[in-house]
Amino acid sequence: MNLSPALRTAIEKAGQAHLLAYDSPQLADQLAAIDWENLPRLIADYVLKKPDVQIPADVQPAPYFPLVPRTAEEKAEKEKAEALGIEMLKSGKVACLTVAGGQGTRLGFDAPKGTYPIGPVSGRTLFEYFAQSIARAEEKYGAPIRWYVMTSALNRQATEEFFRERNNLGLREDQVFFFTQGTMPAIGYDGKILMSSPDSLALSPDGHGGTLLALRKSGALEQMKQDGVEYISYFQVDNPLVPVVNPLFIGMHALRNSEMSAIMLAKTNAFEKLGNFCVCNGRLQIIEYSDLPAELAESTNPDGTLRFISGSPAIHVISREFVEQLTLSGRLDLPWHRADKKIPSITDPKPEQPNGVKLESFIFDALSLARTTLVLEGDRAEMFAPTKNPTGVDSVESCREMLIARDIRRLRAAGITVEDGAKIEIDPRKVLDDADGCKLAAELGLTAIRSGIEMVIG
Ligand code: UTP
Repeated sequence: MNLSPALRTAIEKAGQAHLLAYDSPQLADQLAAIDWENLPRLIADYVLKKPDVQIPADVQPAPYFPLVPRTAEEKAEKEKAEALGIEMLKSGKVACLTVAGGQGTRLGFDAPKGTYPIGPVSGRTLFEYFAQSIARAEEKYGAPIRWYVMTSALNRQATEEFFRERNNLGLREDQVFFFTQGTMPAIGYDGKILMSSPDSLALSPDGHGGTLLALRKSGALEQMKQDGVEYISYFQVDNPLVPVVNPLFIGMHALRNSEMSAIMLAKTNAFEKLGNFCVCNGRLQIIEYSDLPAELAESTNPDGTLRFISGSPAIHVISREFVEQLTLSGRLDLPWHRADKKIPSITDPKPEQPNGVKLESFIFDALSLARTTLVLEGDRAEMFAPTKNPTGVDSVESCREMLIARDIRRLRAAGITVEDGAKIEIDPRKVLDDADGCKLAAELGLTAIRSGIEMVIG
């Protein structure tokens, strides 16, 4: 294999000489991209032993700005923030960012997750929900909004093809910026990197934490700067209920000079599978549901409410400058998270038991690197319908129910009588928010929608 002597030595020194037995240009490229110096430490800390999750002794629930203001000051701040957010949108300072590089294993859908037909009536795909909402947001605020879509090396081509086949989902050609996150080699329990074929390592996406560095490497950050974009509205590809831009959230982030902000939702129970917003050593941090000790998860305030009430739906506003500073050196050392997986390899194409480890970094770990942060309470029914599984909790079914419920609520708010059992879907190209909903209902002269009706409105 065509490798420099220095690279060969580095690979041998890292205990991975088994990889040199193969001969392939693609493999050579993959090997050249690995950080060999740090790999042995990574393997020792995360693969050969299970990393200890250290919960600091002084862990506290994170403060947040509430959904319903409690004081006159909070009310005034909220109004000011909303106005500022609208101003930021009108002056083109906001871009959208969707992370779509995941493998969607739980959904069991082979194509990129964003191409899943989630629309309850229309079968509109996840990507189309976002594209159409972004188009409406541009129209509403009268300023361009670019859409950054992060894919993985595995689904980039299929994702771009999908956009091409559907006329860029109605967006301008230069409005969508695809970029690819990094990969990490999967590692067997013996500490050896696994090969998926004689000419490839077993590679997997490096987690949504890979977004930050990929933004720099792809030139996306540079382009944002040229466009005058200051704020990134970040959301996940499997949540079609999310407002693609949220003026209150953007404005509150700007008003508080926050570097990275997060939406929090009140958890439905102590063990709901959402990351917990905590403050440790004065820093905002998300502790995964599986890592928060039960006695903390279940601890209550004097009024009986959960102390650790704040769950993360992975919705953020991130300042462009913060990402620039974080990635200035061309590297970003977020912690790794270990996932034990069944990883097909040339020695065992169909493992029946987990045989190795995939390492991922998570974007929320950047919160504790920010000097200023903000947590804003969101309304679950208006912003969080994750599509993780085909049925049951956080599923296609529950997501569709929530989309319908949101649209029914919007029509009722516009004064229309909607009977329970109506299956409706409002066109996101026409309706971004409640005000749009009222306008559309009036234009269409809607007065009542009966139970059993199934229709797209727009
Ligand atoms: P999940 O953690 O739900 O992972 O991703 P997933 O791959 O979509 O689904 P499972 O766990 O295999 O069933 C949350 C969000 O982060 C993105 C996903 O596309 C989704 O929007 N993501 C995840 C990435 O962009 N890259 C990754 O490496 C991992």
